[in-house]
Amino acid sequence: MKPIITLAGLVLAAASAWVQAEPIVIKFSHVVAEDTPKGKGALMFKRLAEERLPGQVSVEVYPNSTLFGDADELEALRNDDVQLLAPSLAKFEQYTKQVQVFDLPFLFDDLDAVNRFQKRAKGRQLLRSMEDKNLTGLAYWHNGMKQLSATRALRMPRDASGLSFRIQPSAVLEAQFDAVGATTRKLAFAEVYDALKTGTVQGAENPWSNIYSKKMHTVQPYITETNHGVLDYMVVSNTRFWMGMPHKIRFELEAILDEVSYMVNLEAEQLNQADRERIRQSGTSEVITLTQEEREAWREAMRPVWQQFESVIGADIIKAAETVNRKQRN
Ligand code: LMR
Repeated sequence: MKPIITLAGLVLAAASAWVQAEPIVIKFSHVVAEDTPKGKGALMFKRLAEERLPGQVSVEVYPNSTLFGDADELEALRNDDVQLLAPSLAKFEQYTKQVQVFDLPFLFDDLDAVNRFQKRAKGRQLLRSMEDKNLTGLAYWHNGMKQLSATRALRMPRDASGLSFRIQPSAVLEAQFDAVGATTRKLAFAEVYDALKTGTVQGAENPWSNIYSKKMHTVQPYITETNHGVLDYMVVSNTRFWMGMPHKIRFELEAILDEVSYMVNLEAEQLNQADRERIRQSGTSEVITLTQEEREAWREAMRPVWQQFESVIGADIIKAAETVNRKQRN
């Protein structure tokens, strides 16, 4: 018997052939250089996704704010003009207050403590805290602990008094500098180097990898190794886009992201230490190491910020974060 080929059948066959012929395009935009934890992570995600899902997924990576910058990338994601981002956690303030926990000064002793919090239920829960805004958190990526850079040597909190610091758009960070008598200016990451160079601001806070890759050390004669807070990322997608992908592709991409996150988080500290050493050797800036008493003075000065934000962030979240430190304090 001859097979009966209907017009509807032909149309369906053509449609499914078209679906398979067109790879899903994932634009991954970010604001930092490629030789940083986030820059490397984005490239590794592209490589693995295209290797393991050939012809099905195509990933375009746009570093250095070349597609979108701090001011517009999250709205672009919600509008599906870009499909993956990894903004630093301070940049989610207008979508959720809870994620601000990561910006509280001296809350985490080190990156290992941050890691433990991100793996616990409370930390995982924050990945889903923006789903009503069409934003789904897929993973946390480390950059590193922040250091204070300035035009003047900062040893005690009073040394920062009267200086203006560039900050990310975060009320917590504003309060942190306010606590030591400094003023702040919210600027996009792409503007920081020029602002430091021209003296629009006199200081900033960043992990070593961001300072080195954007040459900030060449315009900041002093960098104090404060490790006073963390600069980490949340890899986020547009919820409708991510959930709308065929299941098999989505599961494979999520497995790839797990693998990439593991590598980024494993290497971030090493990369930051290598950049610290490069800065030290460049001789442009004095790297100031604090004594235990000096670091304690910064902690004492900035600690009241926790109280200030307890009701907006949630006491339970702050408590859960505090308990991941090995050394318990009162
Ligand atoms: C900053 O604005 O300082 C950082 O969030 C940049 C980044 O993405 O690491």
